[in-house]
Amino acid sequence: MWWSLLFLLFLLVPPPVSAQTLRCGPCPVTGVQQGFDLQRYLGRWFEITKLPASFESGKCIEANYALRKDGTIEVLNKQMEERGRSIIGTAVVTDPKEPAKLGVSFSFLSPVGTYWVLYTDYTSVAVVYSCTDILRVSHVDYAWILARSRFPSEETMRNATQILEKVGVKECELIPQSKLDV
Ligand SMILES: *[C@@H]1O[C@H](CO)[C@@H](O)[C@H](O)[C@H]1NC(C)=O
Repeated sequence: MWWSLLFLLFLLVPPPVSAQTLRCGPCPVTGVQQGFDLQRYLGRWFEITKLPASFESGKCIEANYALRKDGTIEVLNKQMEERGRSIIGTAVVTDPKEPAKLGVSFSFLSPVGTYWVLYTDYTSVAVVYSCTDILRVSHVDYAWILARSRFPSEETMRNATQILEKVGVKECELIPQSKLDV
């Protein structure tokens, strides 16, 4: 009963990014990258692995983050396919005291989704987590591991995966890297 009601709500009130993973309980409490430096985070990142999501069906996605004059961040997601589609979004730092907690929106119609940088060393890897509470009894989440190169080292990936495990994202849930390669 509860679950069917929840499911209905889930359909009626789409979360910021649709088709994320639905889990029990509220969003996990998690730390984010301390002293996050947006300037160093900007630029090009490759998507190495992620939780499955319908809004990003393409393979081999790369993202570019650039600062706009108005202080917002332009998010350009590009798919490296033949007809390489791209989508432009906007990210903002909502609280200057917590710069690693960004909000991202991909159209004026879509609500702002959370984009938390759990960890980054700026030069090799970034672990990004997005979570939305649904009535405090469940949550949907989404996660990415981004890297500056298309082939980060195994150790880098192992460390990044461990960070995601702390927020309840298991390694086996992530789309294997081989499926993302062209
Ligand atoms: C992985 O994590 C360990 C322990 O925190 C650290 O010593 C090591 O430098 C990390 N390796 C990479 C490639 O980030």
